[in-house]
Amino acid sequence: MIALDGPSGTGKSTVARRLATALGAGYLDTGAMYRTVTLAVLRAGVDPADAEAVAKVAERVALSVGTDPRRQEVRLGEENVGVEIRGQEVTLAVSAVSAVPRVRELLKMQQQELIAGAVDRYGGIVVEGRDIGSAIAPDAALKIFLTASSDARAQRRTSQDASEGRESTLDATKLDVERRDRLDSSRAASPLRPADDAVWLDTTHLDVAGVLDRILELVDERELRGVAAGPGRW
Ligand code: DC
Repeated sequence: MIALDGPSGTGKSTVARRLATALGAGYLDTGAMYRTVTLAVLRAGVDPADAEAVAKVAERVALSVGTDPRRQEVRLGEENVGVEIRGQEVTLAVSAVSAVPRVRELLKMQQQELIAGAVDRYGGIVVEGRDIGSAIAPDAALKIFLTASSDARAQRRTSQDASEGRESTLDATKLDVERRDRLDSSRAASPLRPADDAVWLDTTHLDVAGVLDRILELVDERELRGVAAGPGRW
């Protein structure tokens, strides 16, 4: 089990998916789960700042996420919401929703089930988020904390928005990235925080291949390939 934590725009998702593919492991994007609950909150017409009402939505939300790194699937009920959860409305509201302790408690249970299922199926899993090494999987064999300057992160987010057809400007994206970091790091319930034993990796001057190489070195240093008792795929 590999935990990949850090703020947005550090390249986490791309790196986590490629790492999982390279290792034949499963992949879990926990941010997508918080985003899907947020979408349900907005659709229910609930104020994201109303913790009690948000918790009620989260209790009855039918959310499912796949763990195949080559085919990301995020559903709200039967509906595939993979594109809509990346939109601006959800991005603006997700930090408030993910600060609600009951939301975190519910998603933690679901994440731990998904992790156990993927370890059975693939023999291992790469999980990305904000509190994976510190709260969800403190026993992870390798914990990485990705960082990058806020300029680099805003630049990456803006390019990603453009390539996926969303309108954004560098300045507005930088403000959003900094706002979310502040909110995600300062909330009381399992904030964005590196685990004590996490390896820090600054990606400001590295491309995806460079980050991946460094992580694969760590995987090999710790002799993590072939350790799992699953189908022997890593
Ligand atoms: O990784 P992302 O940008 O898709 O995550 C969206 C939001 O979800 C992020 O601003 C904070 C929250 N989040 C969280 O609180 N804990 C996690 N493990 C993952 C994401």
